[in-house]
Amino acid sequence: MDKTHLVDEVTGHRRMRRNRKADWTRRMVQENRLTVDDLIWPIFLVPGTGIVDPIAAMPGVSRMSVDKAVEAVKEAADLGIPAIATFPDIEMELRDETGSNSLVADNLINQATTAIKKAVPNIGIITDVALDPFTSHGHDGILRDGVILNDETVDQVVRAAVMQADAGSDIIAPSEMMDGRIGAIRRGLDAAGHQDVGIMSYATKFSSGFYGPYREAINTSGLLKGDKNSYYISPANGTEALRDAALDVEEGADMLMVKPGLAYLDICWRIKEAFGLPTYAYQVSGEYSQIKAAAMNGWIDGDRIMMETLLCFKRAGCDGILTYFAMDVARKLARNG
Ligand code: PBG
Repeated sequence: MDKTHLVDEVTGHRRMRRNRKADWTRRMVQENRLTVDDLIWPIFLVPGTGIVDPIAAMPGVSRMSVDKAVEAVKEAADLGIPAIATFPDIEMELRDETGSNSLVADNLINQATTAIKKAVPNIGIITDVALDPFTSHGHDGILRDGVILNDETVDQVVRAAVMQADAGSDIIAPSEMMDGRIGAIRRGLDAAGHQDVGIMSYATKFSSGFYGPYREAINTSGLLKGDKNSYYISPANGTEALRDAALDVEEGADMLMVKPGLAYLDICWRIKEAFGLPTYAYQVSGEYSQIKAAAMNGWIDGDRIMMETLLCFKRAGCDGILTYFAMDVARKLARNG
């Protein structure tokens, strides 16, 4: 019997490979694309001047003093990156029980915002209002007798958000997962005349091991007592994550974020489907470092996996990705035209 004939009769018009046969067909049928517009670049700040201090656990990523950050952000804007997100690594002496430095108008994060806004006016600045860079215990909120206090934290976060907006922040991104924060921040911003400042909610932030290298970057790993399970979402819970996001939408979030990214693509998809808001994934420090470490060992092609993971976020419905690879990707995309 003619086997070839049999195969042809069975598959007939169902040959998927016709569309994959050449580079030009593959380009014709490509459903998702990664562009520079999809990239948000998170950067780490340190006090001082002229400092570019490599972070051991995140090869290729450095903490920068404000002057150096301004230079780097200028380069990001020239490459076409639409927005950055800033995270401060402040002096230990300034960290206390309540994270009071978050309420200092010219603290490190606000200094950076003002300087970047002035020097690079055409890039968006996204600032986090969680208290963890400012507390002596590394938690995102106010800690009393072993309990993170929701409403007092929200109160402080709102005041910090207004100060960040005063300094020039374009989008407030609260990552501390306190209940009611989105509505409270919206009201606070509006009352202060910041109607045009947006809110990107870390709507579904999971209690994750993938944040490890970030905690080294802002020096909170040695400080953190206990875990963040009483405010971040359990990795086991998808439906709860959607309910949490629904509240943020109701309270006035302009954009939603899922964090971490790759292990939570189902959440990205569900959130985009359910709400239709601009949806972002945060490819967090541990995701970045895993790829870097394996690539440095020669076990994977780091460049290829960088591009593949970011494209997968697009396929999962994301409108953009916060990624430490942003500059590498933007340069690569610029080279390839
Ligand atoms: C905390 C915060 C975290 C990250 C950014 N802000 C997580 C945490 O330490 O609990 C993680 C970012 C990353 O891992 O890249 N508000």
